[in-house]
Amino acid sequence: MTMKSRIAEQIKIAAGVDFSQIEIESWIEKPKFSTMGDFAFPCFRLAKEFKKAPNLIAAEIAQTFKLKEVERTEAVGGYLNFYLDLPLYSAKVLKEVIDKRAGYGQKDLGKGKSISIDLSSPNIAKPFSMGHLRSTVIGNALANVTEKLGYKVIRINHIGDWGTQFGKLITAYQKWGSEEQVKTSPIAELHKLYVYFHEQAELNPSLDDEARVWFKRLEDGDEEAVRLWEWFRKVSLEAFSAVYEKLNISFDSFNGEAFYNDKMNDVIAMLEDEGLIEESEGARVVRLDDEGLPPCLIQKRDGATLYATRDLAAAFYRKREYSFEKSLYVVGNEQSLHFKQLKAILKKLNILWAEDLVHISFGMMLKDGKKMSTRKGKIVLLEKVLEQSTALAAEAIEEKNPNLKEKQQVAEAVGIGAIMFHDLKVFRQNDVHFELKDMLRFEGETGPYVQYAHARACSILRKAAVKDSSFSNSKVAPASFGEEERAIVMKISAFEEVIEEAFAEWDPSKIAKYAIDLAQLFNQYYAHTHILNELDEEVKAQRLLLLESITIVLKESLRLLGIQAPEEM
Ligand code: ARG
Repeated sequence: MTMKSRIAEQIKIAAGVDFSQIEIESWIEKPKFSTMGDFAFPCFRLAKEFKKAPNLIAAEIAQTFKLKEVERTEAVGGYLNFYLDLPLYSAKVLKEVIDKRAGYGQKDLGKGKSISIDLSSPNIAKPFSMGHLRSTVIGNALANVTEKLGYKVIRINHIGDWGTQFGKLITAYQKWGSEEQVKTSPIAELHKLYVYFHEQAELNPSLDDEARVWFKRLEDGDEEAVRLWEWFRKVSLEAFSAVYEKLNISFDSFNGEAFYNDKMNDVIAMLEDEGLIEESEGARVVRLDDEGLPPCLIQKRDGATLYATRDLAAAFYRKREYSFEKSLYVVGNEQSLHFKQLKAILKKLNILWAEDLVHISFGMMLKDGKKMSTRKGKIVLLEKVLEQSTALAAEAIEEKNPNLKEKQQVAEAVGIGAIMFHDLKVFRQNDVHFELKDMLRFEGETGPYVQYAHARACSILRKAAVKDSSFSNSKVAPASFGEEERAIVMKISAFEEVIEEAFAEWDPSKIAKYAIDLAQLFNQYYAHTHILNELDEEVKAQRLLLLESITIVLKESLRLLGIQAPEEM
């Protein structure tokens, strides 16, 4: 139980009120300054129930409140402030961190429940866009956070491998493609063909008809169409795997759009049974006027299905297969209408779990104020971006620590970590301004800053050669701790709460900000405090213990964000 919940429990007992402990806990605040206590309870919350002024309530609770780690309480201005016994509390918090290590902050909130997360989901035969990178990075961080709280997480890569565009691609390949070139650089070549098709189709609209015919053949299982499609899919997935390997991300399922081909008739039949399907200019739609939404296209005139149809089938499949408690879709803002329609249709079908579908939307990746786009042949190749970032990190390392072992590995961890951190440190709805130089700075709110703080603390520990379990056996409470240590211990003890907040709001930036705060506190501390050359052995041991706890929590924060924490850099 966190300190906050234990204080809430005792307030409940001392005040003898009807509110739940959880409710009381949600009212407890963290004062801005530690002179006002480590926690504070605003007593006006109970004023109605008590029919008394808050300052009297505070004084009353103070009289009977008892908790070992709380040294004293003080009733001020309607608040009851709690001052922790710093040595006792620090000993407790740090021991827990050292004992649990990476397991610190873990909970079993989600035990026996599962949450599916649809993330990354690039389109085959197209470059992996910056939007897909955002989805991958945000989705993976949310998956880690969700797992940390005890849920079973299913990471689904809903590959875009179906749709009329494959009719266009096959047409283009048949007309202008070369097997040789596709084999050498598959994505670039297929993308080029696709772009070329569009240019040509503007001059010659009959190409679009040809493409429609090819897609229909594909849907009907025509041998040649399927052969080409399978090939495009295979080479694309191979290229994507290289990216995932670099990002250190894996998936539980690659069931993409095509997977639902044989599962759509059921959905369409359901819609028909409920009388929800209407004809509109030969096509079939579900009207959503009463929801204030435009109609959703379910089937084209020629029987071809759409993105939305496949997502409907996927929603049912996932519910059946994973019995999710929540089903997340980490997809950019520009698809919010699509997900609104999806939910609205499920609601029309009286599906109770429609509310459990959550669109985790996010802003754009901007370069020089403009969208980093993949349209019209203007492609930003993600592999290139990752390479560049790694090269810049390697330069920085060369300058800072030329004798470092495993330089290349560290450069990758820093270069790629920098991009991920930069993406995750702001609330996901905001746009991200892509500027490699800013992301890679070792000062300021960057990934390298946090990684470097971690590596620095590790290096001090190495020099002091503390064993992993040095503290767990010791019973001494760190009596030497003062205000700076207090701030660090309080930060460390807030970890669990931060994870829960990140989960509740689907917001990994909470973790990134937390990591920056902790890294800053460490750097300030390190600048003011002797550690290795502290003469009092006991004081030194207490400081090392604090440092070791910091490394554990920084590393785990980075891990939740999907970022590595090299021990040396
Ligand atoms: N492939 C889609 C795109 O790139 C994203 C798919 C998101 N997931 C989903 N179930 N619709 O726009």
